[in-house]
Amino acid sequence: MKSILLGPPGAGKGTQADKLVEYLNAYHLSTGDIFRENIKNNTELGKKAKSFMDKGELVPDELTVELVWDKLKSIDSENIVLDGFPRNLFQAKALDDGLKNNNDKIDVVIYINVPEEELIDRISGRRVCPTCSRSYHIKSNPPKVDGICDYDGSKLIQREDDKEETVRNRIKVYNESTSVLVDYYKEQGILIDIDGTKTPEDVFESIKKSL
Ligand code: AP5
Repeated sequence: MKSILLGPPGAGKGTQADKLVEYLNAYHLSTGDIFRENIKNNTELGKKAKSFMDKGELVPDELTVELVWDKLKSIDSENIVLDGFPRNLFQAKALDDGLKNNNDKIDVVIYINVPEEELIDRISGRRVCPTCSRSYHIKSNPPKVDGICDYDGSKLIQREDDKEETVRNRIKVYNESTSVLVDYYKEQGILIDIDGTKTPEDVFESIKKSL
């Protein structure tokens, strides 16, 4: 199964992706994580991506589509969860065309629906693991030991692009470029609309039921 997690910044895509990849025994392909890994390793891609990410803008399509395509070709699994890609109509069409050429397709798009007011609160309380990329929230999803990742013991950090001004721009960019994908996939009959305001566990139960 090839699935996409769609939703605004802070909707819980990464949180649900962790659960979904375990449930489906799938490969987790997160463009945001790949860019952050490249920034950490100071690669050419990382240097280019950083200037856009720091402003809350999308990394240009020519970098992103090629990156995803190379990755998709190298993944040795039928089950893939795409998280953070596609993010505009150009990327969505490029993905559809590329998969079609390989007699493949996206099976389901999981749209996590959360009102804008809640997104800022979620993102400002988010802490992430720099090693395994798992995300926590200081109130709603705290680690077992304050400031420490449950899985690998790394010290949790706040993401560079989680400053309020940058977050507001990321939400604006989502509304302008990404939200149109809800209708795009609805028209294809593959979108499931999930209420993302419940607890992470209840959101995941809704996803499993819908699948
Ligand atoms: P990316 O890393 O994809 O970030 P994003 O889409 O902005 O999403 P977030 O990671 O902020 O949120 P999320 O939905 O994963 O929520 P999470 O589970 O962490 O992209 C970052 C940047 O990279 C972009 O701005 C862009 O520059 C670039 N980029 C990436 N992909 C690109 C592409 N395809 N094209 C071009 N550029 C691209 O949850 C958030 C918080 O809420 C956490 O603290 C969590 O614990 C908490 N939480 C989660 N679920 C719940 C719940 N149900 N109830 C309460 N709290 C919850």
